[in-house]
Amino acid sequence: MKNIDAYTHLRGESIYLDDIPLIHGTLFGASFGSPVAHGIIRHLDISEAAALPGVVRIFTYKDITGENQIGGIVPDEPLIADHEVHFCGMPVAFVVADSVDAARAAVKKIKVTIDPLPVITDSREAQQLGELIIPPRTFQLGDTANSWQHCTHIFEGRADTNGQEHLYIETQGAYAVPQEHNAIKIYSSTQGPTAVQRAVSRVLGLPMHLVEVEVNRLGGGFGGKEDQANTWAALCALAAHHLKRPVKYSLHRMEDMAMTGKRHPYSADFKIGLNAELKIIAYEATFYQNAGAAADLSPAVMERTLFHCTNTYFIPNVKATAYSCRTHLPPNTAFRGFGGPQGMFMIESAIAKAAEALGVEAAVIQEKNLLQTGDEFPYGQIAQSEAPDCWHKATALYDVAAMRKEVNAFNAANKWHKKGLACMPICFGISFTKTLMNQARSLVHVYTDGSVGITTGAVEMGQGVNTKILQVAAQVFSIQPEKIRIHTTNTFKIANTSPSAASATADLNGKATLMACTAIVERLKKMVAEEMKVDAQSVTLQDEYVWVNKQKTDIDWKSLVMTGHIKRIGLSEHAHYATPEIHFDAAKEKGHPFAYHVYGTALVSVTVDCIRGTYTVDSVKVVHDFGASMNTAVDLGQIEGGIVQGIGWMTMEEVVYDANGRLRSNALSTYKVPDIYSVPKEIAIDFLQTPHDNLAIFRSKAVGEPPLMYGIGAYFALRNAVRAFNKTGQFAFDAPMTPEKVLMALYATQKEGIIESHEETTN
Ligand code: GUN
Ligand code: MOS
Repeated sequence: MKNIDAYTHLRGESIYLDDIPLIHGTLFGASFGSPVAHGIIRHLDISEAAALPGVVRIFTYKDITGENQIGGIVPDEPLIADHEVHFCGMPVAFVVADSVDAARAAVKKIKVTIDPLPVITDSREAQQLGELIIPPRTFQLGDTANSWQHCTHIFEGRADTNGQEHLYIETQGAYAVPQEHNAIKIYSSTQGPTAVQRAVSRVLGLPMHLVEVEVNRLGGGFGGKEDQANTWAALCALAAHHLKRPVKYSLHRMEDMAMTGKRHPYSADFKIGLNAELKIIAYEATFYQNAGAAADLSPAVMERTLFHCTNTYFIPNVKATAYSCRTHLPPNTAFRGFGGPQGMFMIESAIAKAAEALGVEAAVIQEKNLLQTGDEFPYGQIAQSEAPDCWHKATALYDVAAMRKEVNAFNAANKWHKKGLACMPICFGISFTKTLMNQARSLVHVYTDGSVGITTGAVEMGQGVNTKILQVAAQVFSIQPEKIRIHTTNTFKIANTSPSAASATADLNGKATLMACTAIVERLKKMVAEEMKVDAQSVTLQDEYVWVNKQKTDIDWKSLVMTGHIKRIGLSEHAHYATPEIHFDAAKEKGHPFAYHVYGTALVSVTVDCIRGTYTVDSVKVVHDFGASMNTAVDLGQIEGGIVQGIGWMTMEEVVYDANGRLRSNALSTYKVPDIYSVPKEIAIDFLQTPHDNLAIFRSKAVGEPPLMYGIGAYFALRNAVRAFNKTGQFAFDAPMTPEKVLMALYATQKEGIIESHEETTN
């Protein structure tokens, strides 16, 4: 089935926040963000700005009617700075004017005097100073301390990953419309309508039942709108609440890039020990997460780093500790993979370091240590592992031996171009790591003309979740998709939603929809059975008709529904789903946090230009564990997008803050994202259809986040290509591997990071 949004997307008719027709009298907001990263506000002068034509009012923290607080996990984030600023771009004032231009012109005339305080941008430095968001956490399996003596080979090292800009095509924004009784309605570009509802309720001091949040769809989220849509919604709501007029704020790209958090940069120290057969016996890692200036989702992201710190390998002795470090960057936040990719990069770096030192292919170590069914993760869950099947199918199907031979032959024949190949097996746990978030509700209405309207907590952000939910209903009702409409996500229809996140949205909301539709069908079947004096089990729905004992009757869907209504059968249902079986004990750091895991293996090959440092990703060939895909078009799209986004993070997207905490890579001219020229020349995706029962909707496993991690393979493929050229040089595990870093590595000497002129280059 096609994505149900394809038609309006292609015609430019899909409605995003900025396409909502404006109500007469709407005003426009713009945020004045702190020009410095850390300091005490001495004086704020808004007089010149307030006097400009069109300016209606300028809001500061003094106007907040409720609590000046939007922190979720930790209450450490004021909506508007009161006396201290913690990051560049932190809202200090909010201008409201009768036009967008007037609001932005006024922002430029606001003057603030700030006594600067020391700025920390580095996570290790913050940790040294004791600047932690929460106490550190440690996951442990076996006993690493007593394992090193059993290791033949031990390697230690450091690895670093940088941040990543979400670059959703639709920037952040909100439109707040005051209602009667002080209520407020907010159209928000958010993954978490309930998160926005809570934040607005808190800031305005209103009960949640007066705060309606509605979302039609987003032009991308990638985690950036899981928590950070709250700010703009709360600012607009605050202004609308005071002025009793609608207020809209849709961020410019450069504001969005400068003011919002990104993927967390991580720095880590690792120690890995292997026996003579190259089995990994022990692994220790210490992670320094750069959380930015406030907690936001950092503690949860940090936790997922620990969950995924051994990727898809079984290691009997593990000790992993993570620090969430407070710096003066905009608070970093959820980003597709949610800390998992960072943990996985570190173990892959440790394996690569061992492989390089021992002179074996990393793949030899990877394959020997793949997780088997029955193995225990460091957090206590027992694996139902598809890792070996994915690996062996990929290496056979794509003939990795032949690929390797080709790479070696190419490298022997070419001096100034080198190819590199890497295998990247992945494993990703599906469920919110916070157990309570794994619940969802669905509201299904069948109307008397046979049409169906569905509302869930799911937010459509281009990932195709509405298409999947519609498929669920179409299958249960056995009707054509055209008869079903997925309505907007709205906090007055579905309450207390979890954000659309953690790859779990289709599972959670799809299961709730399955339950709601099934309940309605069961009532209608019972009605037919009583009418026809047959057993309810013998009544089925098929091809829009009622069938009895496998015989088609003349009762079609529409007359069935109408009869149900006449007989006063409930044609609506609100169902609640909570993922069974999952639990986690944070005191012991053990449990069964995930409904299931998604596995896969990618083979990534690249070619490096050894004079320029530039490169191409030649191919990414994947065997992916889909369970049983319910929509291959949507799922393949998710995998292709994930691969490219992962490659971007690992090879070209370089977030740069200066020492004063100012974002220098603040536009698409200075922040390079993958374009059509940089996507892999070939992407091949094969299905591992796994027979085992699982908790996914229709056994179709979650697909949102896992494929991003295939992109990590591009880093190691580049590393291998560089090492084919420069056999002795040492260079750090430091992503992204930009062309500049590739060039430096090509000519690095044995002392890590030092570049000297290479003999061959002068020839
Ligand atoms: N995004 C990806 N994984 C998670 C998770 O476990 N929790 C939350 N809140 N968001 C996520
Ligand atoms: Mo979360 S990174 O918003 O799935």
